[in-house]
Amino acid sequence: MAAYKHILSERDMPRKWYNIQADMPTPMRPPLHPGTGQPIAAADLERVFPGNLIEQEMSTQRWIDIPEPVIERLLTFRPTPLRRAYAFEKALKTPAKIYCKDESVSPPGSHKFNTAIAQAFYNKEFGIKRIATETGAGQWGSSLALACQFFGLELKVYMVRVSFEQKPFRKLMMQAWGAKCVGSPSQDTAAGRKVLAEMPDTPGSLAIAISEAVEDAVTTPDTRYALGSVLNHVLLHQTIIGLETQKQFKKLGVSPDVVVGCAGGGSNFAGIAFPFLREKIHGANVRIVAAEPTACPTLTRGVFGYDFGDLSGSTPLLPMYTLGHKFIPAALHAGGLRYHGMAPLVSQLTKDGLVEATSVQQLESYAAGVLWARTEGFIPAPETTHAIAAVVREAERAREEGVEKNIVFCYSGHGIMDLSGYDAYLGGRLTNYELPQSEIDRAIHDNGKMPPIN
Ligand SMILES: Cc1ncc(COP(=O)(O)O)c(C=O)c1O
Repeated sequence: MAAYKHILSERDMPRKWYNIQADMPTPMRPPLHPGTGQPIAAADLERVFPGNLIEQEMSTQRWIDIPEPVIERLLTFRPTPLRRAYAFEKALKTPAKIYCKDESVSPPGSHKFNTAIAQAFYNKEFGIKRIATETGAGQWGSSLALACQFFGLELKVYMVRVSFEQKPFRKLMMQAWGAKCVGSPSQDTAAGRKVLAEMPDTPGSLAIAISEAVEDAVTTPDTRYALGSVLNHVLLHQTIIGLETQKQFKKLGVSPDVVVGCAGGGSNFAGIAFPFLREKIHGANVRIVAAEPTACPTLTRGVFGYDFGDLSGSTPLLPMYTLGHKFIPAALHAGGLRYHGMAPLVSQLTKDGLVEATSVQQLESYAAGVLWARTEGFIPAPETTHAIAAVVREAERAREEGVEKNIVFCYSGHGIMDLSGYDAYLGGRLTNYELPQSEIDRAIHDNGKMPPIN
């Protein structure tokens, strides 16, 4: 009989995270201080993050123990299922075997909870009482709201305005879990007021919301900032996805030929990809594909250099692919993929040729998402549909070449809170958007200070 779900026992859930820095062929360049341009020291970050997370951010230790209280909360929904997508394969008439690692089963509905619970735990351990953060699509804000509730922390969320307006239910989820959520740019911070004065109709961006949340954190007592993607420790916490997937494939007795994830700031992609990248670095024949939107093509069309993580230039300069920190992406429905930069770890691995990046138009991604919903039943998050579109391309290539290959992708979240995007797509109101080169050139020119990396 065909096996649909591959489930691990709770005993098999990984007890350590994997830190790819221990295996990278090119060692990471350090973040630079925004004022001096010199490599930052741990002390420079102390007002923004708790010391234990700063330590983790800088660690090159290969395996890092997951603390017991984090394991307990992860076990409420992990290990997550690996599902074979027979109906989707059939619809595509492909000889490829398609596997979906389902990260939509956490209470808030995405992979973001994997790091939210860890970050809330470390903040609590360090004696922090309140966290400020940004959120794009609302998946991160709601994940952190629940995690803060579990560990008794207050939370304020700055939610990118376009998502705040498109997704009122995400705000209600955050409130139900005890957090405060405002649209960004807001009147609550100097950074927000400045943007509102200059661009009252702006759809907002993650870079603006990050500026607001960082300002809030450094100006409020007992408060620290938390980021849902991009940083090394966030990617580290997500590696539980790929580590479980490896165990599931081992039980199946096969290994994936292609591993796919969508990439906004890079965390769910890193989560599924890094354990397989370790194998690739040691000689395994596996392709690793990151899918991003053509409207925000950081990896495929950005430049590799030092840039700020936020709009106002208050964060350290990070070595990454970027479209320039002043870049404000079009208001596409995949709010979680609207970020000007990319995780430094993912950027370096792409630069080194270990990761392939591809970009997907909005209509292609929704077409793939709707096909998935109509064949497999689950409605994917708009971000996730980018990964599904990349899987469709791989499956079609397998059909043309007549090769049977194993494709696995990270199903990063469900789309039940994102139905307005489906409404626009099914009503014929969505269009493709390819970023003109002139806009990329302008954003990078406006960046000014960015030291290039050769
Ligand atoms: C469901 C989902 N997938 C993917 C992403 C993109 O983020 P990242 O690249 O950090 O995984 C988001 C971000 O909000 C998301 O909500």
